[in-house]
Amino acid sequence: MQGLDLIKKVKIVPVVKITDVETTLPVMNALKNGGIPIAEITYRTECASEAIALAVKNCPDMLIGAGTVVNAEQAVSAIASGAQFIVSPGFSAKVAEVCKEKGILYIPGAITPTEIMATMEYDLPIIKFFPAETFGGLASIKALSAPFPKHVFIPTGGINKSNIKEYLSFSKIIACGGSWMVKDSLINNKEYDKIEEISREAIEEINA
Ligand code: 3PG
Repeated sequence: MQGLDLIKKVKIVPVVKITDVETTLPVMNALKNGGIPIAEITYRTECASEAIALAVKNCPDMLIGAGTVVNAEQAVSAIASGAQFIVSPGFSAKVAEVCKEKGILYIPGAITPTEIMATMEYDLPIIKFFPAETFGGLASIKALSAPFPKHVFIPTGGINKSNIKEYLSFSKIIACGGSWMVKDSLINNKEYDKIEEISREAIEEINA
């Protein structure tokens, strides 16, 4: 299954921050066993490339992407490590160019109409609406969908079990991102069972 198809099917993109590379595979397994075979591993730590490479090599049945990619160098590094998609908190034309050249799915962040228009020059129809709850949530996405009918959204930021279903009820929202099932404290305390449990609850909630 292609990456985008899997994202549309699972409807959740966990935003994972790996600080200790040894936690990578247990976290991936917990997500997968909880029903979420997707991870966006963020470039917020030194070991992001290493964690991505480890996950890609050992979890062939998962879709592993890179998140918080803010420049071309990180995009090149992430793709060299095997990242299957790239996510940015905002829009970077340079990252877009790298992804286009390498044929990799790029999901830029955007909040305003001007930012969305910038993505159109690179034919990027999937927007990470971030930080979603801070910038008007579902109401803002609905308003943006009127002038931008060809775009779809992955809202992220402040999403959890209690509001995900409402977001996903809007047809232009193909998935939601978030870290609530992989919070720093859960990873640092090696609470992998809990990660699996929260992941499963999220999947059950959206399919209920
Ligand atoms: C991200 O970069 O996507 C966010 O950190 C995720 O937001 P959340 O932590 O509020 O889920």
